[in-house]
Amino acid sequence: MMKQTLRPRRMRISEGVRSMVQETTLSAKDFVYPIFVVPGENVKTEIPSMPNCYHLSVDNAVKLAKEIYELGIPAVEIFGLPEYKDEIGSSAWDATSPVQRAMKAIKTELPKLVIIGDVCMCQYTSHGHCGKLCGEYVDNDATLELLAKVAVSQAEAGADMIAPSDMMDGRVAAIREALDAAGFINVSIMSYAVKYASGYYGPFRDAADSAPQFGDRRSYQMDPANSREAMKEVELDLAEGADIIMVKPALAYLDIVRQVRDNIDHPIAVYNVSGEYAMVKAAAANGWIDEKRIVLETLTSMKRAGADIIITYHAIDAARWLKE
Ligand code: PBG
Ligand code: ZN
Repeated sequence: MMKQTLRPRRMRISEGVRSMVQETTLSAKDFVYPIFVVPGENVKTEIPSMPNCYHLSVDNAVKLAKEIYELGIPAVEIFGLPEYKDEIGSSAWDATSPVQRAMKAIKTELPKLVIIGDVCMCQYTSHGHCGKLCGEYVDNDATLELLAKVAVSQAEAGADMIAPSDMMDGRVAAIREALDAAGFINVSIMSYAVKYASGYYGPFRDAADSAPQFGDRRSYQMDPANSREAMKEVELDLAEGADIIMVKPALAYLDIVRQVRDNIDHPIAVYNVSGEYAMVKAAAANGWIDEKRIVLETLTSMKRAGADIIITYHAIDAARWLKE
C-alpha cells in the first residue's frame, strides 16, 4: 500500500488550526436587516409566512432599529405599506408616508445606523406593478421620473443609501441625476442590478401587499435561466453610477454572485429573500433541520460566493449566534 504523505486532515486537526486556515468569516457587520413599516401607532403584527418578522408602526420600528444597532448590524433597509394606493403610486414620495416618517425618526434616534431605502412602485400602485402603466405595459421612461422623485423624498427623510428594485432600464442614471440636482451627492446607490423574476418573493409580496393584480413581472425582471445577461445588467448599472451591485435572490443564484465577483471590484450585496427565509423557518419549526447551523452555513456560502453585504431576515438571530 502507498505511504500516505498528503494529508489535508492535518489542517482540520483542532479548533485552533481550523480557525487559522478558515477562508471565509461571517460577522454582524455583513448584514442588513429589512424592516416593514405600516401606518398607525404601537403596531407589531407578525407576518404569517415570515415567522418572527413584523409589520411595525414607526414607534416600534425605532425600537427595533435600536436593538439592531446595538447588535453591531450596520444598516437597515426600509420597506413600507402606505396609507393609500393609486395608479401611479404617489404615496411613495409622500413625506408623511410611513417609510419617510420611519427614516426621519430612526435617523434622529440613531444617526450612525445606515438607512437604506427600497425604491420601487409596487407597494404603492393600485395594480401592484413596479412602475407606471401604459395599458398593461409598464412604461419604462415614464416610471423613471417617479423613481427619481421617490429617491429624493427618501434622501430628504434621511436615507443614506437608495436601493432601486424596480428593474427599469436607466433608473440608476435617473436617480443619480435627481439626487445630485437636489444636493444629495453623498447619498449612494445600491442597485438591484441583477434581479430575477423569482418565485422566492412570494412571502414578501404578502408582507408588502405588493403582488401584481394581473400578469407577472417577467417583462422587467430577469429570466432565471440567464447568466450572461447578468453581466450586461451589472455593466450598465456601473456605467450609470451604481455604488453597490446587488444580486437577488441569493441562494439559488450563487453562481451569478461568483461570476459578478470575478468581473468587478465594486462591493456586492445579495438579498437572502423572503422565500429562502420561509423555507428555513418552516423546516426548523418542524424540527427537520438545525436552524442555527443551517442559517450560519447558508450565510457563509453567500460570502464565500463573493458577497460583501447580505440583506437577510435572519440578521438579528445570526448576529446573536455569532456573539455566543
Ligand atoms: C419590490 C421588492 C421585492 C422584494 C424586494 N423589493 C419583491 C418583488 O419584486 O416582487 C423581494 C424581497 C423578498 O422576497 O424578501 N420590487
Ligand atoms: Zn417592485
